[in-house]
Amino acid sequence: MTEKQSFYITTPIYYPSGKLHIGNATTTIACDVLARYKRLMGYDVFYLTGLDEHGQKIQAKAEEAGISPQAYVDGMAVGVKELWKLLDISYDKFIRTTDDYHEKVVADVFERLLAQDDIYLGEYSGWYSVSDEEFFTESQLAEVFRDENGKVTGGIAPSGHEVEWVSEESYFLRLSKYQDRLVEFFKSHPDFITPNGRLNEMLKNFIEPGLEDLAVSRTTFTWGVAVPSNPKHVIYVWIDALLNYATALGYGQDDHANYDKFWNNGTVYHMVAKDILRFHSIYWPILLMMLDIKLPDRLIAHGWFVMKDGKMSKSKGNVVYPEMLVERYGLDALRYYLMRSLPVGSDGTFTPEDYVGRINYELANDLGNLLNRTVSMINKYFDGQVPTYEENVTDFDGALAQVASESIADYYKHMDAVDYPRALEAVWTLISRTNKYIDETAPWVLAKDEAKVKELAAVMSHLAASLCVVAHMIEPFMMETSKAVLSQLGLPQATSLENLAIDQLPAGLTVVEKGTPIFPRLDMEEEITYIKEQMEGNKPAVEKEWNPEEVELKLNRKEIKFDDFDKVEIRVAEVKEVSKVEGSDKLLQFRLDAGDGEDRQILSGIAKYYPNEQELVGKKVQIVANLKPRKMMGRISQGMILSAEHGDQLTLLTVDEKVPNGSLIG
Ligand code: MSP
Repeated sequence: MTEKQSFYITTPIYYPSGKLHIGNATTTIACDVLARYKRLMGYDVFYLTGLDEHGQKIQAKAEEAGISPQAYVDGMAVGVKELWKLLDISYDKFIRTTDDYHEKVVADVFERLLAQDDIYLGEYSGWYSVSDEEFFTESQLAEVFRDENGKVTGGIAPSGHEVEWVSEESYFLRLSKYQDRLVEFFKSHPDFITPNGRLNEMLKNFIEPGLEDLAVSRTTFTWGVAVPSNPKHVIYVWIDALLNYATALGYGQDDHANYDKFWNNGTVYHMVAKDILRFHSIYWPILLMMLDIKLPDRLIAHGWFVMKDGKMSKSKGNVVYPEMLVERYGLDALRYYLMRSLPVGSDGTFTPEDYVGRINYELANDLGNLLNRTVSMINKYFDGQVPTYEENVTDFDGALAQVASESIADYYKHMDAVDYPRALEAVWTLISRTNKYIDETAPWVLAKDEAKVKELAAVMSHLAASLCVVAHMIEPFMMETSKAVLSQLGLPQATSLENLAIDQLPAGLTVVEKGTPIFPRLDMEEEITYIKEQMEGNKPAVEKEWNPEEVELKLNRKEIKFDDFDKVEIRVAEVKEVSKVEGSDKLLQFRLDAGDGEDRQILSGIAKYYPNEQELVGKKVQIVANLKPRKMMGRISQGMILSAEHGDQLTLLTVDEKVPNGSLIG
């Protein structure tokens, strides 16, 4: 048996400086689609994602939150992993740049480059954007601010973020020394960057004007990997971050089997968006050259998802978070939308209209109806038994088979080119053609004529066969939908995408008795309004930032819907009487006025916290008023008194005495 080919795919490691949005989700899902596709094409795949946790930006965020940077990133990492779980991301490893093994190799690499004189000590003066973690010369700034004497006092980076003046001792990486080798590499590998045009952009804009050595250490903050031989310097976060692609596989460590297998003997793809292509196409290859490591095979740089009013930004109130979309419309709709709508080589615009439209037209109508019609006709005309596939009985069958084979060929071509909008378009070409085939062949007419049973059988089997091909092709994108389509046809989940063809339908299939719609039709207007409201932040619960500490807590917490909470009736009640319960050292018995005309009795296990229980008489407390009454020590208890635990103490929650008894709390 020949050994499987190894394939390595990486996402950028994101900054955990805020909640991740659909932009970050796009790259991660695109890599997931690639990983799943390659696995189904018989490759041995290693899919890496993770977090870029060091640097000034993260340190500042942690300070803002009033916690240590480590506690901050620990909490954020939990949130990010939860998100990837929600999006069913099939990564093989999640790296965090604060992982010990990674930090150690980063420090070793720095010292090695210092020793071989690829890094030297100097003085840096220039502009720095903390948000981008990037240095700029004055001429690279999008805008400069000057005082009345014309002196530059500040500026704006091309990303729109403000820059600050940095002047400090710094180590430098000798990019200039490697410029010619890089140009040579680019020229001999014109396909290194997808889409192709971006390679020339890098050459023209950044390399040919002359590469300047890059400042690769900072001394004005501490959150990062210290230079071992000069620990007042922290290694520049981008050097630290780029190395993750190698350290995650075991580079520079005792166990480097994955590095040998996936880097040295595998195909290496990095996927990023255009904002960070410069780091990946210039700094990263040069670092690898310095370390004598083979260069990656391909950099895929997609565009951005933007909004009608420009870049996504919280202040504009146009940020879209994946959680809300998944919760309301399901995961497959999100994965489909993002992969179908971001064209290779340019930006895509997210609009609520487009989102709901694609669900209704492409998923519910085109695909959903095709499945429904097919399953119900096979039930109606053949008792649920799919007739055996036979080569083209009529010309219609032949025409459909022809479109299927073209569509499959296009699909492979575009999948291999990582052009997902076009790959999905190829699938939808087949779906539309199959819908048209139903209209052309008019099975309801054939069914009326016994002499046409063979034709009718051919139509049913061609429909099932076409859907089977479609379900396979969408498997890397929409795992649940693929499974659902196949299972309604009586088929198991797709386990391979190799050699797809329409004439491969197994014989003897039975469809489900009653197909269930795979996508509901949505009320366009209502849903567009819903998404807009979410974007504008009208529902702050969803827009809210992840608070890293809260996220940790949430892990151990069961979430409830608002409706669940709404069922709980909490009211203000005044303690009229309280007494110890004979035979119990835990319980106190309360008589309370909850404003409903009758006193109520509540037993509460708080005796040990209130040895002088009479001090509670006259206090106004909070009770759950609609708890089902229950018996404790033979006595009835009609509710629960709310309290807060703190350390080994417990305190009843009281309210101001001016609040009337029975007031509703919520
Ligand atoms: N930490 C660095 C990457 C280091 S990799 C060695 C970083 N992090 S980031 O959190 O800012 O993520 C940037 C990446 O997120 C982009 O390159 C892209 O993959 C993704 N996206 C962020 N916003 C996006 C859109 N609006 N649209 C599409 N992708 C987006 O840079």
